[in-house]
Amino acid sequence: MYKTILAIETSCDETAAAVLVDGKLRSNVVYSQIDLHTKYGGVVPSIARLAHQQKLPEVVEQALSEAGIAESDIQAVAVTIGPGLAIALEIGLEHAKALAEKLGIPLIPVNHMEGHLWSWTGDNLAEEAAGDQVQSANLPALGILVSGKHSEWVQVSRVGEYEKLGQTLDDACGEAFDKVATMLRLGYPGGPAVSRLAAAMRDSYAIFEYRDNASTYISSELNGTKYRLPIPLAHTSDLNVSFSGLKTAVKQLIAEMSGANQKLNIQETGAAAVLSAEQVSFVCLLFETAAVAMMERKIRAALKRSASRELWLGGGVVANEYFRQRMRLVAHDFELTLRFPASKSLTGDNAAMIGVVAALRPELATKDYQSHDRQPGLSL
Ligand code: KG4
Ligand code: ZN
Repeated sequence: MYKTILAIETSCDETAAAVLVDGKLRSNVVYSQIDLHTKYGGVVPSIARLAHQQKLPEVVEQALSEAGIAESDIQAVAVTIGPGLAIALEIGLEHAKALAEKLGIPLIPVNHMEGHLWSWTGDNLAEEAAGDQVQSANLPALGILVSGKHSEWVQVSRVGEYEKLGQTLDDACGEAFDKVATMLRLGYPGGPAVSRLAAAMRDSYAIFEYRDNASTYISSELNGTKYRLPIPLAHTSDLNVSFSGLKTAVKQLIAEMSGANQKLNIQETGAAAVLSAEQVSFVCLLFETAAVAMMERKIRAALKRSASRELWLGGGVVANEYFRQRMRLVAHDFELTLRFPASKSLTGDNAAMIGVVAALRPELATKDYQSHDRQPGLSL
């Protein structure tokens, strides 16, 4: 294991660097670019690249100084090599390669999703080294990765040995939250806004799940009218989900709620123009419930088929309190240890999780600085 690791992450709209010493976290700096992308309603790759270029040297500097180490103390540079935005990833890679070459130390290419998988170690990482935390985990575990780009469930047999059991067939979970937020004109990124509005309503509305010949639905009543959303793929025997189907159903629900004579194009005008604030929150509540119910069904099915002893959560959507609540219940029902990162700086993209993978998998290190294009870890 390398004593001092600098980790760099630039796969999307966070410019991040972290330092691990003896497998423990010494600093974790995240510069979020969200403000730069908000007005475009999503991440603009060219803007992300430029911001990474401008900010990364400063972020790395800060990570080193907060850790109290000099550049010459670094023994390996870990960097995210994908998946992510190619032109954004390049900035982190170029910086990492140049630094590693200059210092004559190895580069450790890390898969972003493998980082999310191990991000639960981050909360205690200042006190307990990643390797020691992994020692005390009971494998196999089922890892649930839910971010803005991916949604998948992987069986973890040991460090570096993963098997994907199921995934989304189209949009990612966080992406669906963002798209629903766009329809409701709640801004970008929409996940936090949708979950905040849903949470404010959750205790006041009874939600039912029922089945007819065609599908299974989530249903609730608003001002005397019943509304519903389907749970896509509820009855397929595989372990996959589809957020695109759910998103289309939300669009239809908005049209239905706005009244039959409203012939508005919701994509263009935004549903906020046709729905009351109460209706907007109600759509958030039904959507969040259906989205989580869809994943929960397949996660329970995956657990029935596997011998998992732990349930791990990783990725931006882990910030969602309702999702956590349901996963607590799943872990309880299957008598599993539940692990997930609690702090926002670890659920979202960060470099600490990249450093963790580097600390756990020194065999990924290379001095062949050009060989970074092979994707280690999870086959994504
Ligand atoms: O892991 P992450 O920071 O970036 C990717 O690797 O994609 O995940 C970002 C995603 C966004 O789609 C965002 O809307 C979603 O996570 N997200 C949430 C919540 N907080 C962030 N989704 C639902 N509820 C939340 N509270
Ligand atoms: Zn991510």
